[in-house]
Amino acid sequence: MNTALVILAAGKGTRMNSDLPKVLQPIAQTPMLVHAMRAGAVLSPERTVIVAGHGAEEVARVAKVEDESVSVAVQEEQLGTAHAVAQARDALTGFKGDVVVLFGDTPFIEPTTLERMIAARKSFDLVMLGFDIAEVQPRYGRMIMDGDRLQKIVEYKDATEEQRAIRFTNSGLLACNSDLLFDLIDQVSNENASGEFYLTELVALANARGLTATAIKCDEAETLGVDSRADLAAADAAFQTRARNALLQQGVTLMAPDTVYLSADTVIGRDTVIEPNVVFGPDVTVESGATIRAFSHLEGCHVSRGAIVGPYARIRPGTELAENARIGNFVEIKNAVIAEGAKVNHLSYIGDASIGAASNIGAGTITCNYDGMMKHKTTVGENVFVGSNTMLVAPVTLGDGAMTATGTVVTKDVEPDALAVARAKQQNKPGYASKFFDMLRAKKARRDKGA
Ligand code: UD1
Repeated sequence: MNTALVILAAGKGTRMNSDLPKVLQPIAQTPMLVHAMRAGAVLSPERTVIVAGHGAEEVARVAKVEDESVSVAVQEEQLGTAHAVAQARDALTGFKGDVVVLFGDTPFIEPTTLERMIAARKSFDLVMLGFDIAEVQPRYGRMIMDGDRLQKIVEYKDATEEQRAIRFTNSGLLACNSDLLFDLIDQVSNENASGEFYLTELVALANARGLTATAIKCDEAETLGVDSRADLAAADAAFQTRARNALLQQGVTLMAPDTVYLSADTVIGRDTVIEPNVVFGPDVTVESGATIRAFSHLEGCHVSRGAIVGPYARIRPGTELAENARIGNFVEIKNAVIAEGAKVNHLSYIGDASIGAASNIGAGTITCNYDGMMKHKTTVGENVFVGSNTMLVAPVTLGDGAMTATGTVVTKDVEPDALAVARAKQQNKPGYASKFFDMLRAKKARRDKGA
């Protein structure tokens, strides 16, 4: 059976109090909409339609970065969930199969739940997804069941006191044959307490036609809607707990799991050790057997087997750390390749650079990569010894086996095996220190007397 996804993402999300459309608010550094798209991808949909409204251009851009084949239907005015789904009709012209409706602000639907919805479609014309709420909440529609048949869904605003007490509530997600879905939507009216076109009305309409509807149940955590910043923080926390547990199960050591912040796309190999208070920004892969020491911040990088990063290291986008590379405390690396066994152990900035295998970058070394207008590259060969506090003024190349003297400002290329020295010559002036201190002592005494 072919499947198409319709993801509703037109809402403004007033309670977010943000310029960003609600569905683009991030959870684990990834927009909620992208989480929803990834959840739906498990059904291998033939087509995906995003219904956008508020911030439609930005929503479309983000959706297409994730999957360029998606269609975006614009809902100019938000007249209700059924009206929103109706906007996807044109994009689904000619499609034969089931439509699964997801919400862009319900990012955590499990693959198995979607599969159960599709499986239930074999026996029912319309399948809704519901969950039992722990506490009675006005924001959800109530499922009116008769055995496994769903008779209707009553929105809280339209419900009687008795119906409001029902704990089985609507997540809003559904699965239905495409032709039937749009046929039923044509019949939906907006004569209700909100004056909106409710998608939930499909249930009563289907039953009235002698068709069958059911509701399957999932965990409340899966359908956690995100309406406010507090909801967003709670959803992120829930995501972090799940992602940390998954890593622990995969054989990653997290010394203090609660203090490690992960992105949705973080990949960490087995037997890697993550010390406390480490932040993984987007697009980080750490291979097996690496160590990320405390208080390090990584984004957009690849850390190979056996590498050690931190404590207190900052690894920025475009960084490739080869096997057994060592990045120590207070070191920032950006857009650089650090080859096998190379070391940048203390207080350095290495940007737009490549550091050859087994080279050692001394404490305080900086690649001066930016001239105020443009970025330039630094190339350091293999087995190079860069003395402490060397300034590498890019563009510059140090050949294999070269060396720089401590405190050197390198402005010219250094040939292989050469020593570069560029600093003022030292002079020692015997007795000058004590004379100087005597002079200062006398000056201070005069000042204190005068005071
Ligand atoms: C809807 C359901 C309710 C369910 C609840 C779960 C209806 C009538 N009610 O409530 O039974 O318990 O979801 O969260 O369906 N949207 C649009 N365009 C619109 C309206 C909404 O794209 O015109 C999108 C929103 O961006 C959001 C989703 O649809 O992603 C749900 O809208 P929301 O207003 O949160 O849901 P309710 O209508 O309150």
